[in-house]
Amino acid sequence: MPCLARYRGTTRSSADPCRRPGAPARHGCDSASATSGLVLRCRRGQLRTRGRQPMTDGLRVAVLGLGGMGQPMAANLIRAGLPTVVWNRRPGPAQQLGAEGAEVANSPADAVRRADVVITMVTDADAVYAIAADQGMLAAMAEGAVWAQMSTIGVAGTERIAQLVGERRPDVVLLDAPVAGSRGPAAQRQLVILASGPEQVRDRVAPVFDALGQRTVWAGPVGAGSRIKLVNNLLLAFLAEGIAEAVALGAALGLDRSAVLGALQGSPLVSPWAAEKLDRIGRDEYGPQYSLALGLKDVKLALREVDVDRFGVAGSLAGQWQRAVDRGLGDEDITVITRALQR
Ligand SMILES: NC(=O)c1ccc[n+]([C@@H]2O[C@H](COP(=O)([O-])OP(=O)(O)OC[C@H]3O[C@@H](n4cnc5c(N)ncnc54)[C@H](OP(=O)(O)O)[C@@H]3O)[C@@H](O)[C@H]2O)c1
Repeated sequence: MPCLARYRGTTRSSADPCRRPGAPARHGCDSASATSGLVLRCRRGQLRTRGRQPMTDGLRVAVLGLGGMGQPMAANLIRAGLPTVVWNRRPGPAQQLGAEGAEVANSPADAVRRADVVITMVTDADAVYAIAADQGMLAAMAEGAVWAQMSTIGVAGTERIAQLVGERRPDVVLLDAPVAGSRGPAAQRQLVILASGPEQVRDRVAPVFDALGQRTVWAGPVGAGSRIKLVNNLLLAFLAEGIAEAVALGAALGLDRSAVLGALQGSPLVSPWAAEKLDRIGRDEYGPQYSLALGLKDVKLALREVDVDRFGVAGSLAGQWQRAVDRGLGDEDITVITRALQR
């Protein structure tokens, strides 16, 4: 893995090859012990540690947005031994991560100043833009740093962000890297990262993406990751709707719900994802893993890019989900549509 010294064009002290002259010691690089493991060697930016902490590249990461996804993602970066700075609009989630070893920043600008890789994980394109442009994140980023934009913001949103970077900070390397997988997979480091962007930084961000997910799919230039994400989430929306309508049909036919769920168990039609959702429906558990409001946002992002007359079923699904959101169900899991259909 290349040392950051090379892409920043700076020299490093011989005691700590990962460290800029005069900069404070990086996590674990020049002491006998790291926070959660013994440092055996630091060569070309690599930390090798013994104990529960895997090898990392000593990259300093900033995570902005600590909701259902950003919070467990940041926790995994900390667990992987990557020095991590966190910021969230509401301070609570950041303070919680502070107790787990993160550095807590008071503003987006403070969070990113010394970061090699900046991750944004917030609701939508407007939130990303507000943090980056209005709250000074982009202006404060270190020269040549990488911005991994991981929120789901669709094609137009990604183009808007790419234009912002091109106009204001062309030295910053933008990666469009949304993720597949919800809160559980995020906590278990099982996300799939749908990454796109310049090839020359792929090795550089690998330790970060490896700490977040099971797999990184490099899809092409910026915009490709977001396109694949929309494909993934439209499929997911139809699966959720299929489950909801099937279970609701069972109820309408007078069948006992547990009999319906039992009959579907082990069916080749039921993917592991669907099986988990059916299990939760069986327990009437609709706490958000992937909220209905976010699901609707993503279907709308897909519909924005196509001729809606040719995608009539997706349009109809969006209408039905919008009515459920208008009834106050937006913060529940997408599976709550099952309950909505039975009323
Ligand atoms: N949940 C999933 O299953 C899933 C899976 C894959 C991808 N995603 C995508 O990942 C992103 C985050 O999802 P999530 O589940 O973490 O959402 P969430 O739990 O609703 O959290 C949203 C986050 O965005 C922040 N935020 C919203 N508007 C903001 C603004 N104007 N300025 C600053 N911060 C703002 C919130 O800050 P506060 O805490 O201060 O409100 C919070 O940290 C979304 O784009 C979503 O579509 C979600």
